[in-house]
Amino acid sequence: MNHETFINYRNYRWMWITVGTLLLSLVVYVINEPAAGRSGGSALGYTYGVIAMIAIVWLMVYGLRKRSYRSSLGTVQGWLAAHVWIGIGLLLFVPLHSAFSFGLNVHTAAYVCMAITIVTGIWGIANYSTLSGKIQAHRGGTKDEALIEQIDALTERIERLCAGKSEQFLALFNRFDFTFRPGLRALLRIHSIPIVEQLVVTQMLRAISETEREDAITMVGMLDQRADLVRLIIEQSRIKALLKVWLYFHVPASVALCLTLAIHILSVFFLW
Ligand code: HEM
Ligand code: HEM
Repeated sequence: MNHETFINYRNYRWMWITVGTLLLSLVVYVINEPAAGRSGGSALGYTYGVIAMIAIVWLMVYGLRKRSYRSSLGTVQGWLAAHVWIGIGLLLFVPLHSAFSFGLNVHTAAYVCMAITIVTGIWGIANYSTLSGKIQAHRGGTKDEALIEQIDALTERIERLCAGKSEQFLALFNRFDFTFRPGLRALLRIHSIPIVEQLVVTQMLRAISETEREDAITMVGMLDQRADLVRLIIEQSRIKALLKVWLYFHVPASVALCLTLAIHILSVFFLW
């Protein structure tokens, strides 16, 4: 896999910057021995706290940048690479700030919100890498609107073929017909789309008069084609929903992080 993504952007540039920064911070942490013991309240603890806070503010700004440029993943690849790796790095950097001390308090609540943001972020990129390639429109396939147009056109042609036909003909139609309304429910009902079984079709065709048989075969073919198109559209909508759903966790978690962090910082300045 040679193509560049936001993970391996410029030969993992941001991963190496993050790993380097973490190693350096760890060395300084080990060398530094404050008289009052290591803690978030030591000079180094404060320094690391401020660095972590700046990193978080920067990660939040990412969302604003994304919206103001209305850019796609591709054009913000460098930003996203930095976002992903710096975000993951914070998981280890913040414990260096707090000297690996945690408790049942608002400080640790900030850390937990941060961890949730990071984990949901990882879930998001896992979705991107496994699912985005499956979207046909991304690979030059047919877009949803075009699919819906094709489905409508088929429905119309099927209805025209059915007009004035015998009971047996309509029985064949009813056997494989289904209604499709785009929406959330359709996403959950992909398996209710009938499969055109050749054996059943052959049996039912026998009951249809010869004058109608050719039309019946054309009609069944179109029903089959329509079912395939509907399945395709449902599958694509499902993938698109999965590509978005994690953001409904990532963004609120990041907002909760900002709130708890503000309380953490205010409390250490005013209460300590
Ligand atoms: C301007 C930035 C920050 C400042 C000034 C700051 C300040 C402090 C101080 C003074 C302490 C020591 C409190 C004590 O000894 O009980 C502390 C602990 C801690 N801080 Fe920060 N901090 C900052 C940023 C952060 C960030 C970004 C996080 C995580 C998201 C964080 C998480 C923690 C945690 C988990 C502790 C340990 C709490 C415990 O021991 O129970 N801090 N911080
Ligand atoms: C403390 C850490 C983090 C914060 C505060 C944070 C915050 C944000 C914010 C505010 C957005 C913008 C969402 C929007 O408006 O649509 C965002 C998007 C995103 N974040 Fe994070 N994030 C963090 C860590 C991570 C991590 C660790 C990863 C992945 C491993 C990640 C992956 C993503 C992705 C993939 C996007 C969406 C990109 C896009 O659709 O263009 N984030 N993040």
